[in-house]
Amino acid sequence: MFTNAVISAILASSALAAPVVIERSVVACTNSAAFSNVRGGCVTSVNDNDGIGAGADVYTYYQGAATAFPAKTSWVSFDQMFTANQVNMAVSCGNNGWGANDSPAEIADIRAGIEAVAAASGVDHRFILATIMQESVGCVRAPTTNNGVTNPGLMQSHDGSTYNAANAAASIQQMIVDGTEGTSSGGGLTEGLNTYGEVYSAARVYNSGSIASSGNLSDGNGAVACYVSDIANRLTGWVNGASTCGTTVTTPSSECSYTVVATNTCYEIWMEFGITEAQLYLYNPSLDAACDLQIGQVLTVC
Ligand SMILES: *[C@@H]1O[C@H](CO)[C@@H](O)[C@H](O)[C@H]1NC(C)=O
Repeated sequence: MFTNAVISAILASSALAAPVVIERSVVACTNSAAFSNVRGGCVTSVNDNDGIGAGADVYTYYQGAATAFPAKTSWVSFDQMFTANQVNMAVSCGNNGWGANDSPAEIADIRAGIEAVAAASGVDHRFILATIMQESVGCVRAPTTNNGVTNPGLMQSHDGSTYNAANAAASIQQMIVDGTEGTSSGGGLTEGLNTYGEVYSAARVYNSGSIASSGNLSDGNGAVACYVSDIANRLTGWVNGASTCGTTVTTPSSECSYTVVATNTCYEIWMEFGITEAQLYLYNPSLDAACDLQIGQVLTVC
């Protein structure tokens, strides 16, 4: 159990700067299985050198039950994971047409926010970072989407809060609280961790709200099919390598491939190749709902 005493001890023993500002009803890790499971997403202390180092920037398509997804023994270290991903964070707002790119100070606030929320909630900081990259590529100004409930900010949380330039660090941390621990109107990462005791089912529930009756975590169940496989790959070192999610189909011919460069937006790409937005998604099942492109990603465009 992640008791208040444990949380206080962690906060007291670590050199984390700002105290966590909790404005909503939030939920920490409470399921002991999530601490002990080999795919568990909860920790009793925050350690930046917790994994295998940087891992490899390659993509392996995972599908089926959680047991088919990589165990923590092959996860990367938070420190190297953050270093590798902050390169994309630094260009993600501009690349997606979401406003000014994250400043170095904003990126430092994201890192500090992840560490503080991990310490307060018990959620493994690598799972929080993977979710941030998946949801917004770390753009603090990522737009709010709305499919009945609003999904704002870094973690596209359930009706949570957005970035506030006048209060940068606190608002960045609040976006991470909202996604990790939930809001007064909806759950965060901890909801699935406490229900299922491991990260992959938690990631599926965070994206879809439910798990397909087959138990196949790469069945999007109405949401993003590749979401859980992407999270798994982020945890093992994938940053820019070409996704192979869903690829049991034939490899496209070279004239139908396009390699994403730093300035590309999805809009530009479908206009340039004379296809529709729907076709871009159809040809590239690994694209998430926010259409976040990675530099070097190879897209099928015809
Ligand atoms: C899981 O679902 C995906 C569809 O999203 C499908 O392509 C894949 O074959 C399924 N895998 C298993 C093991 O059922």
